[in-house]
Amino acid sequence: MYFFLSPACISALYPPNEVIDGMKASKCRDVRQKYHILYPYNQKKSDVKMNKEILWLDGELADSRANQNLFDHALHYGTGVFEGIRVYSGKPFLLEAHMVRLLASARSIGLECPFGVDTLAAGALRLIEENRCRDSYLRPLMWVGGPQLGILPRENAARTAILAWDWPRLFDADAADLGITVTTDVPFRRPPANVYPAGVKATAGYMTAMLNRRAAVSRGFDDALQLDLEGNVAEVTGANIFAVVDGALVTPAPTCFLNGLTRQTIIALAKAVGNGCIERTVTVDELSRAEEVFVTGTAYEILPIRRVDDRKYQVGQVTKRLREAFFALSSGSDVISTALEEYSI
Ligand SMILES: Cc1ncc(COP(=O)(O)O)c(C=O)c1O
Repeated sequence: MYFFLSPACISALYPPNEVIDGMKASKCRDVRQKYHILYPYNQKKSDVKMNKEILWLDGELADSRANQNLFDHALHYGTGVFEGIRVYSGKPFLLEAHMVRLLASARSIGLECPFGVDTLAAGALRLIEENRCRDSYLRPLMWVGGPQLGILPRENAARTAILAWDWPRLFDADAADLGITVTTDVPFRRPPANVYPAGVKATAGYMTAMLNRRAAVSRGFDDALQLDLEGNVAEVTGANIFAVVDGALVTPAPTCFLNGLTRQTIIALAKAVGNGCIERTVTVDELSRAEEVFVTGTAYEILPIRRVDDRKYQVGQVTKRLREAFFALSSGSDVISTALEEYSI
């Protein structure tokens, strides 16, 4: 249950863009305590401490709880784009590639970002240092700010932030070894490219994913396996999918979903250390006779699937080999990096 506050009350609690560049962690804690009223009051304090205290906002460091604006266009119409970046042992993985994709997503919804890749990457590195991130998750976000609330934003501010979390597990601890369960029996299909721009990582695109995930979880599955409009395999709610069918690694072509950076890395790794990967239509029928199935994404990393609806799978050798290569790469292995150079994403 949440406390509900009037807009006037919230703006008194949340001074706009309270910049705290150089603020010490103890001071940040004071600021956080001041705002604790907005935590759900039946939630343990420890549950809400995942987010780091400092964020990067429009070019400067700021307190992570001091920025709310009810007149931001994005809050009303979902006009935002974002990224997720893993930090392994203090080092961000594929930092520049994620920032490049963020700016591409922003351009495609008409958002002019005043910062380039270098500034955003430097901001992310500063944030990692200030928050002492080790195994963490960064969330770069660009959105259409206020003040106008017409559907077509005309003189609205372009806002940019990077948030940081200590990394919470996405699924149970044993999911990485045993795999997750997914169901195709969910209400929404992935929209085709002429209904929604597939390659844009935009906040507005996640409503159907959220509803599908909710439907799957309510029926005891970990996630939803979403199909395309024709009923072929597309992706799970936050990750791409691969299968080993008749001994060959296959993955659906990204016509109606994000061409994940992890997906591209796995395709390159499969060429460098395996037998390659074929991008093509994958039917549900084929999936039901696949030998192995796994999903890939920044948050999910490489997770085996152990069940699709009633069909059960073992974690196979191809999944294990690619997982090992992926983690070697993300922890900075020279051997894997060199093998990958030829197929670099
Ligand atoms: C809907 C969706 N598909 C796929 C992915 C995988 O993309 P990436 O590997 O770049 O994280 C993500 C995560 O960003 C996602 O949200």
